Amino acid sequence: MTSEWWRTAAIYQIYPRSFADANGDGMGDLAGIRSRLPELADLGVDAIWLSPFYTSPQKDAGYDVADYCDVDPLFGTLADFDDMLAEAHRLGLKVIVDLVPNHSSDRHVWFQQALAAAPGSPERARYIFRDGRGADGELPPNNWESVFGGSMWTRTTNPDGTPGQWYLHIFDSSQPDFDWEQEEVREEFRRILRFWLDRGVDGFRVDVAHGLIKAAGLPDYTPPADAGSMGGNQHGLEAGVPLEPEIHDENLGAPYWGQEGVHDVYRDWRRVLDEYDGERILAAEAWVDPLSRVAKWVRPDEMHQAFNFAYLETPFEAAPLRAVIDRSIETFGAVGAPSTWVLSNHDVIRHASRLALTADSLQGHGIGPKSPGLPDPVVGLRRARAATALMLALPGSAYLYQGEELGLPEAIDLPDEARQDPTWFRTNGERYGRDGCRVPLPWEADAPAYGFGPADTTWLPQPAEWADFARDRQRGVAGSTLELYRSLLAERRARSLATGELEWLDGFGDDVLAVRNGTVIVVANTGSSPVELPEGDVILASADLDGRTLPGDTTAWLAA
Ligand code: NOJ
Repeated sequence: MTSEWWRTAAIYQIYPRSFADANGDGMGDLAGIRSRLPELADLGVDAIWLSPFYTSPQKDAGYDVADYCDVDPLFGTLADFDDMLAEAHRLGLKVIVDLVPNHSSDRHVWFQQALAAAPGSPERARYIFRDGRGADGELPPNNWESVFGGSMWTRTTNPDGTPGQWYLHIFDSSQPDFDWEQEEVREEFRRILRFWLDRGVDGFRVDVAHGLIKAAGLPDYTPPADAGSMGGNQHGLEAGVPLEPEIHDENLGAPYWGQEGVHDVYRDWRRVLDEYDGERILAAEAWVDPLSRVAKWVRPDEMHQAFNFAYLETPFEAAPLRAVIDRSIETFGAVGAPSTWVLSNHDVIRHASRLALTADSLQGHGIGPKSPGLPDPVVGLRRARAATALMLALPGSAYLYQGEELGLPEAIDLPDEARQDPTWFRTNGERYGRDGCRVPLPWEADAPAYGFGPADTTWLPQPAEWADFARDRQRGVAGSTLELYRSLLAERRARSLATGELEWLDGFGDDVLAVRNGTVIVVANTGSSPVELPEGDVILASADLDGRTLPGDTTAWLAA
């Protein structure tokens, strides 16, 4: 019997470096994760997704994999992974791991062999090596720019010291792209899938699932000026502007994003997963527009889920939210897939800060002390709680990012010397990058490193005010963000909201979203003027209500 658990699951993203540190080196690890899993079961999520913990030189926080079938000593061992997995399953949590197929680390044995081999060799064919342009091959083979800044090409040096061929890397120079036209690459990834499936994982979040295939001939391409650094573009949906399928199409032309050939890869993987029992899933990280294009990744014979970044990029405003919600349900529904919902992850500014920014910040560029339009933290947290209360009432699967249940803001004042995102280095500090959403979690207000681990220091410094966000300060405290999340998840489950259908209710004004999902009416006030609530007992609210009025930046759930 199939439960199709993934259609409704609340999935909690663990960023292993920053979740919990058991061995005291200031960096999170698998034993730390294992020890804190009961907290997540208690929170009420259905599954966890772990960002990479594989052998890696950590040039891009583990998204540069040197060995896909082993654990980096920073995080523990394969035995630690097995223990963590067993504990998660014992607690009823599914476990999804990250798969990084677009590129490996430059320390991967295949890339080392490629560097040592001659141009045109089978070793080089596994990656994308080309001769340079110009009289002496001194210019990169085309004009593509890396997502992290600078050229997408790096020149190699021949064994005799002379300059050699160039290799392609969509991200950092330490992350060479595989050539997915090669059957050997495809076979290797089937093996990697099986390795983790055999160990018992419940699925894979697929990194850069839109990038594997590049257009033939690698033609020059200049992206539009507002293309975000993760390869998506800012939606910049204006209030009142309908979400049309034909707009926001800037990336359609990028010869390295969303080429048709990627779908053959996922059809192939789906066949592998379907050989296994227990409904193992694939979830696509595909930053393409519009949603109808994202839906291609979740056609019945491909993946199960795709991240809904259009939703993440929508401001907390009634009209664009309603438009993107309708469009998501309709578009994913048209191919038989559930919509997903997400507000934060390890690549974007935490939504408790992002929703109160007063200046644009492109995806992945991050914010720091000198950024314009920095958020008011009180407004940000209030909006974040209201936004989450809306999100968790929607039908489909929802992704939560570690720390959002504590209301954590982006860490803005990180010292320059602490920053580690390659974006920061490749742009000479022009873009702050993503470190501000990756700071280790506070667990206990009065413990060293707020209970993150036994060491005093953490790999990124924790802001002093994070004591107030510590889990032990919020547990059991009515009105805390942690208790709000716990109630939202419990009611979402008890009232089957994730399998429900939406019916919009009008008449509450331009700034208000009012919607019925089964036995619950959800009213979200995205404006600043209070509105009268409809009839019905209040189940929960993201902020204190004033009698039967709903203040601005607040969401309430009522019994219908
Ligand atoms: C997307 C990941 O989420 C991000 O963290 C990483 O830097 C890039 N892919 C490259 O793997």
